[in-house]
Amino acid sequence: AAADKGGWSSFMAKEVSEEPEAVANTVLGRVQDGQIVIPELDGLDGLFQGVSRVIVLACGTAYYAGLVGKYAIEQWARIPVDVELAHEFRYRDPIVGPETLVVSISQSGETMDTLMAVKEAARLGAKTLSICNTQGATIPRESDAIVYTHAGPEVAVASTKAFVAQITALYLLALHVGRVRGALSAEVAGAAIAELEALPEKIRWILENEQERIEQLSRWMSDTRSVLFLGRHVGYPIALEGALKLKELSYIHAEGFAAGELKHGPIALIEPGQPVFVMVPSPRQGATLHAKVISNIEEIRARGARVIAVAEEGDAAVLPFADEVLRVPLAAPLFEPILAVVPLHIFAMGLATAKGLDVDQPRNLAKSVTVE
Ligand code: G6P
Repeated sequence: AAADKGGWSSFMAKEVSEEPEAVANTVLGRVQDGQIVIPELDGLDGLFQGVSRVIVLACGTAYYAGLVGKYAIEQWARIPVDVELAHEFRYRDPIVGPETLVVSISQSGETMDTLMAVKEAARLGAKTLSICNTQGATIPRESDAIVYTHAGPEVAVASTKAFVAQITALYLLALHVGRVRGALSAEVAGAAIAELEALPEKIRWILENEQERIEQLSRWMSDTRSVLFLGRHVGYPIALEGALKLKELSYIHAEGFAAGELKHGPIALIEPGQPVFVMVPSPRQGATLHAKVISNIEEIRARGARVIAVAEEGDAAVLPFADEVLRVPLAAPLFEPILAVVPLHIFAMGLATAKGLDVDQPRNLAKSVTVE
């Protein structure tokens, strides 16, 4: 009903507008005196002792949140992380035991493939922790521990606000585990917490200052038949998520690539007029990484690509090479994905709307896939 949409044209429009709160509410109550305190994990420190490996299991958008989480868990908790699609995990005799912590991510907590993978991991002796947006759902009930995301109910089939909340929860978990295991200084954790707490305001800045321009761009591009997304480091999973959202909502062929793979194949796709979104890492992430992505942009532009750069505010290096620049506020490098994905959500939603499609109920898709 229109009332439930709170005046928005779609649930998705409402849910994208709630991305700042999804992050804020997921952090809320989990920081005390500059320290991470996750009440649900009270007394469960044992879960993180003796763990030599983390396997993240999920499907769809939640899987891409997991790919982002890998960078944070490895950096802060210093535990090697594999991220795997839940339906692939089960059928290959995985090497899993008591030293493995399996972190599942599911908005609904009911995705059958994810549930069955978690059960299989538990049967093999792994410790299991569920990141979930739905109180009392099946996957958290089947897990040893739960960290809820507090994105609020998500109605639109394609996930948006739950995605930013999932990354936030993974970051809180990574910081918590890093501290519990003595892998992370209070100082580094404190700086990360400050970054997390600053995110909602920065997302709001994007919605207030860039949304209209991005929607205009999506209207101009409503006849586009194929869109490519390139990213590197934490920008890579965001490129994948941007492509997924565009196919789901607008039925346009879209594909995400690691920017470094360009020369190993995708560059063959570039022909005059081909739109390519490029997630530009902050120049502060290390001059090398930034310079490499700028040179990727030059390479595709020389072949006629139409470059839409998602870049940090004030990054002047990108201006001469991009047809469009979508700005995101400054954040420490690991936190950029939570900002950079917002323009991509707006773009996919805008393009589907421009094509007259139902953004809440894309054809052939279900909100929660409860069959294998
Ligand atoms: C479906 C939805 C996606 C979602 C995926 C995983 O495919 O359409 O938006 O990312 O399921 O759902 P989950 O509830 O496990 O996060």
